[in-house]
Amino acid sequence: MPEKPVLTVTGLGKRYTLRHQAARGALSERLTAALRAPLRWFQRKSSGTSAGATAEDFWALRDVGFSIQRGEVVGIIGRNGAGKSTLLKILSRITEPTIGRITIRGRVASLLEVGTGFHPELSGRENIFLNGAILGMSRAEIYRKFDEIVAFAEVERFLDTPVKHYSSGMYVRLAFAVAAHLDPEILIVDEVLAVGDLEFQKKCLGKMEQVASGGRTVFFVSHNMAAVQRLCTRCVYLKQGSVVADGPVPRVIDTYLREASAAAGGRRWAYARKSPAIEIEEVELLVGTEPRVAVSCGSTVTFRARYRCSAPAQFSAGFEVSFIVFGQGQKLVNFWSNAGLGRTFPAAAHGTFTCTVPDWPFRSMPMSVQFHLNYRLENLVDLPEALTFDSVDSDRFGTGIVPHGSEGIVLLPHRWSST
Ligand SMILES: Nc1ncnc2c1ncn2[C@@H]1O[C@H](COP(=O)(O)OP(=O)(O)O)[C@@H](O)[C@H]1O
Ligand SMILES: [Mg+2]
Repeated sequence: MPEKPVLTVTGLGKRYTLRHQAARGALSERLTAALRAPLRWFQRKSSGTSAGATAEDFWALRDVGFSIQRGEVVGIIGRNGAGKSTLLKILSRITEPTIGRITIRGRVASLLEVGTGFHPELSGRENIFLNGAILGMSRAEIYRKFDEIVAFAEVERFLDTPVKHYSSGMYVRLAFAVAAHLDPEILIVDEVLAVGDLEFQKKCLGKMEQVASGGRTVFFVSHNMAAVQRLCTRCVYLKQGSVVADGPVPRVIDTYLREASAAAGGRRWAYARKSPAIEIEEVELLVGTEPRVAVSCGSTVTFRARYRCSAPAQFSAGFEVSFIVFGQGQKLVNFWSNAGLGRTFPAAAHGTFTCTVPDWPFRSMPMSVQFHLNYRLENLVDLPEALTFDSVDSDRFGTGIVPHGSEGIVLLPHRWSST
C-alpha cells in the first residue's frame, strides 16, 4: 500500500473581491492590531476581508488539485500573476481558500514574500523565537537551533536590531534560515532566490537540497528554471489560476517555454502617452516568429512594438526608440536604442519598431523590458514594464549539458586551450 500523501488539494479556488475604496481602519488601530497579532494581521491584510464598496470578483486560483508524496520537491512555475504566491499562502494557512479542500500531514514552514511572517518592530533574535513558536516548537528546541540559524543567515552583528532596519538581503537570509532550520515536514519557499545575492542563492539551494534529501517535502516557486531543474522532482505550471501542466520537470518547463504570451493589450498604457498623436498598441517578445513568455539562452530574440500615429508629418525627423532590459532585482542589464546607432525611424500612420538580438546571452532570471519613444530627445512614450519574461539557461554551447553554476548573468562564447 502506498504511503498517504503529505498534502492533498482538491477543487481549490481563491476569489478576491476587488474594491474601489476598501474601508480601512485608522492607522493607529491597524498598527496596534499588527503589534498584537502579526500573523493574523498579515492574514487579514493578504486576504483582503476589510469591508468596503464591492466592485468585481476575481479568481486568483481556480479548481486547483494535486496530491504530493513525502519527499517530493515540487517546483511551481508560471508568469507573474498566475497565482503561485496565492497558492503558497493558502498552503501555509496565511490565507483561506474560498472553496476547496486541503489536507496536510505535518508541520509547515514557509518563506513567502519579504514582509510576511516577520514582525518589523522586533529584533532578529525575537523574530526567531516568534517564528519558532508559531511553528509549534518549544523554547528549548528553538535554543538548540538558534546558533545554526544565526550562522546561516550571517546576521550575528544585527541580532538585536529590529528587522525593519534590515536590508532586503539580510531580511530574506534570516527568514530563509528560520524556515529551513526549524525542521518542518513541509518547506514552502516563494521566490527567495530573486532577492538574495548569488552566494546566498547557492546556499539556499544547497539547504533546500539537504531538506529534501532528508525526506521532507519542499514547494519552491522560482523564475530560475535552472534552479527548478536542479532541485525539483516534479513541476506544476500555473496559468491564470489553473494548473495547465503537472509532471516531470523537463516536460513541464518545456510546456511553459512554448506558451505564447497573452495579447499584451494597450489599456494600461494610455497614461504613459505624452503625445496624443502616437499610440503604442502592443509590445511583443518573439523567438523566431512565435510570441513567447520565456526565452532560452542562445536564441534569436525579437522585441517588437506596434504603433499608430495620427500625425506622421509632425515627426519628420523620425522617432528614437529604445528597449531597456532589466534583470534580477531590477538591475539594468542592457539598453538597445536606434539613436545609439545613429538612426531614427520615419513616422508612418502605423507600423512596427523591431529590435532583434541574434544570440540572447542572459542566463536564468526574471527580466523586464521598458519601452521608450522619443522625438528630438523629448520623451513621448515611456512603458516601464512593457514586457516581463523569463530568461532560461540552455545547452548554449551544444555540449549536451547546461553549463553548471549560478555564477554570472551571461553565457558568452569562449574557447579553451592547453599546451
Ligand atoms: N490580496 C489580494 N487582493 C486582490 N487581488 C490579489 C491579492 N493578492 C493577489 N491578488 C491577485 O491575484 C493574482 C495572483 O497573484 P499571485 O498569487 O501573487 O501571483 P504570482 O505569485 O504567480 O505572481 C494576481 O492577479 C494578483 O493581482
Ligand atoms: Mg508571487
